[in-house]
Amino acid sequence: CVVGLDVGTTAIKGILVDEDGNILTKSDYPLKLISPKPGWAEEDPNEWWNGVKVVLKSLSTYAREHGIRISAISTSGQMHSLVAVDKSGEPLFNSILWCDQRTGKECDEITQKLGGEHKAIEITGNPILTGFTAGKILWLSRNYPEVFTKSHMFMLPKDFINFKLTNVYSTEHSDASGTAIYDIRKREWNNEILEILNLKVEQLPEIKKSNSIVGKITPETAYELGLDEEIIVVPGGADNACAALGVGVTDYDTAMVSVGTSGTVLVPTPTAKPDEEGRVHVFAHVVDGVNYYMGVMLSATNSLDWFNDITDFRDYDIINSEVDRVPAGARGLFFLPYLNGERTPHRDPNARGVLFGLSSAHNRFEIYKAIYEGVAYGLKDCYVHIPSANVKEFRITGGGSKSKVWTQIIADVIGKRLVKVSSKEGGAYGAAILAYSAVSGNAPDKVAKEWISITDSTEPNKERHEIYERNYEIFKSLYHSLKGAFE
Ligand code: XUL
Repeated sequence: CVVGLDVGTTAIKGILVDEDGNILTKSDYPLKLISPKPGWAEEDPNEWWNGVKVVLKSLSTYAREHGIRISAISTSGQMHSLVAVDKSGEPLFNSILWCDQRTGKECDEITQKLGGEHKAIEITGNPILTGFTAGKILWLSRNYPEVFTKSHMFMLPKDFINFKLTNVYSTEHSDASGTAIYDIRKREWNNEILEILNLKVEQLPEIKKSNSIVGKITPETAYELGLDEEIIVVPGGADNACAALGVGVTDYDTAMVSVGTSGTVLVPTPTAKPDEEGRVHVFAHVVDGVNYYMGVMLSATNSLDWFNDITDFRDYDIINSEVDRVPAGARGLFFLPYLNGERTPHRDPNARGVLFGLSSAHNRFEIYKAIYEGVAYGLKDCYVHIPSANVKEFRITGGGSKSKVWTQIIADVIGKRLVKVSSKEGGAYGAAILAYSAVSGNAPDKVAKEWISITDSTEPNKERHEIYERNYEIFKSLYHSLKGAFE
């Protein structure tokens, strides 16, 4: 058996998976976001480690009780979040998270010193965004110079967990590519950006393959958690890449449509050719030599949660059956899902949610329908901005995909068949695939093909697709009309 872990933003998750890909048991540990100021988001890396220990203890107890041997552990983790440690590996500062917005000035400075956004995109594949790691390192050096001077190593969340498990510093390409310090073509740390950040390359971990080996678990941790000392720790990867592997999206003609708190459309690509305008990201996949394009919308199920909260209504059976009765187009209502600004395609942190076309005749389920449709238009916006996407199979995942009605709307809006697969554990399942790949010597995409099967499929309806094609034009025009008012 192998263990797949995920260091998420809201929880540490762990699953125990057998050689055929069946999940035997799972365990969760909730996390609390620390927000010292509006727009700031931090977490304590030691709290992740506490969570990992609780989760691993519970999995190891199950394994012992069932006579199961664990051979490898691998971890998926939130991307971009910065961990700075001293010589003894102790965190010097809370982790500044991917969703933190404090580094606008630093990102502008890095971009300018590099010679402009075009150059930044050419090297890293992406603009230098506030979410990414580079700006956080510069911010730390400007605001806490004593912490910066003491920093022996900078790393990503799952790399910190791998360090705690093995005492070895490492990273791998999928997380390195989200730092904005990584050359996406050369697949190595970029000297120019290192210099701008005043960093030595030794302060960043060595970049390994996602399914290689970091090291063995330390005897102390093995003893503390009741684990076998022979267990190997496998690097794992960025949560989005692991989630894609975890639903079998590794080929160039497959896509992952993820309807979680945020929404993503991810398509693997053999090239590192970036989107010139930086509307969609390009990062390294956990499959060797493969990259992926990813469009990100910031509020997918988050839009539904917002409306549920203000109406204090959460009966999903009623919501879904009533939404299903409202005709496509929500009787002229449109929802722009930009509650927290938007990344793809607008790159506009000031954009805000809009409910357009209200009349006194509208009821709350028509608003729900507009929300479902608005998120579906947002996902379509992600897909259409992915360069040369020629996708034959869309695999849908995430909390929103549990709703058949919402899944049907997304199929109708995008105009493609959406399939669901057997695995539902997101990044943790992709991490388990990487762990088993290291143990078995089989490539991660081969393991994914053996472990994952298609369980459900939703066909787009032609008439509704035509209505949605017309309404998509209105949806797009609304943002452009309102753009100036969002400042
Ligand atoms: C991706 C991103 C988020 C985090 C969440 O660019 O910022 O999806 O990876 O963990």
